[in-house]
Amino acid sequence: MTAFPRAVKLAPSLLSCDFTRLGEELQAIADADWAHVDVMDGHFVPNISFGVPILAAARRASPLPMDVHLMVKAPERYLRDFAGAGADGLTVHVEATAHLHRAVGMIRELGKRAGVTLNPGTPLEAVRPVLGDVDLVLVMSVNPGFGGQKFIPESVERVRTLRRWLDELGSPAELQVDGGVTPANARLLAEAGASCLVAGSSVFGPDGAAAGLARLREALA
Ligand code: DX5
Ligand code: ZN
Repeated sequence: MTAFPRAVKLAPSLLSCDFTRLGEELQAIADADWAHVDVMDGHFVPNISFGVPILAAARRASPLPMDVHLMVKAPERYLRDFAGAGADGLTVHVEATAHLHRAVGMIRELGKRAGVTLNPGTPLEAVRPVLGDVDLVLVMSVNPGFGGQKFIPESVERVRTLRRWLDELGSPAELQVDGGVTPANARLLAEAGASCLVAGSSVFGPDGAAAGLARLREALA
């Protein structure tokens, strides 16, 4: 196996945690790099998850950077609220806004890390116009809306392509992957150029989030 040059950040997705124990779950992932917060509106994706009050509660319970993934139509409407509730990074979908540069600019103006993402069926070219303006690019490796789905293998090639494009630009942006990430594919994704992995069901498993997180770290060691 080839070595990969960057330390890979891990961002457990709170979507899979036990919400009756949100504070304890956040403690169990204290060794993570970020906490990933999945906001779903029932329009952009078929599912509804949670919104600003849960982010605010997570913020109060943990010092981890809050990485907020907005699966929401016209996310411009909510950027200020999520920033105010404690988001450190805000990621918007290219398919969800008619004004991508404006959304990215708004996140920057709020002083937050600006992220852009796209569904597995959306050509990578859709994010190219903003690649030089963002702090994070997220490759969705499942169709967003639910935790616990199967990883789409073609995502690896998409990570490789985006790694090349970012390197060509000299961009330090994070290259994140979300959906079906497990200890079995984490290393492959890191070798393809991912710098941050999101994982929900493979972290918040029956033996607890600390053990799940440790298994992912081992896979990357
Ligand atoms: C999917 C969400 C993911 C989800 C990942 O729509 O964006 O962040 O929580 O869950 P797993 O890791 O179980 O696929
Ligand atoms: Zn997500």
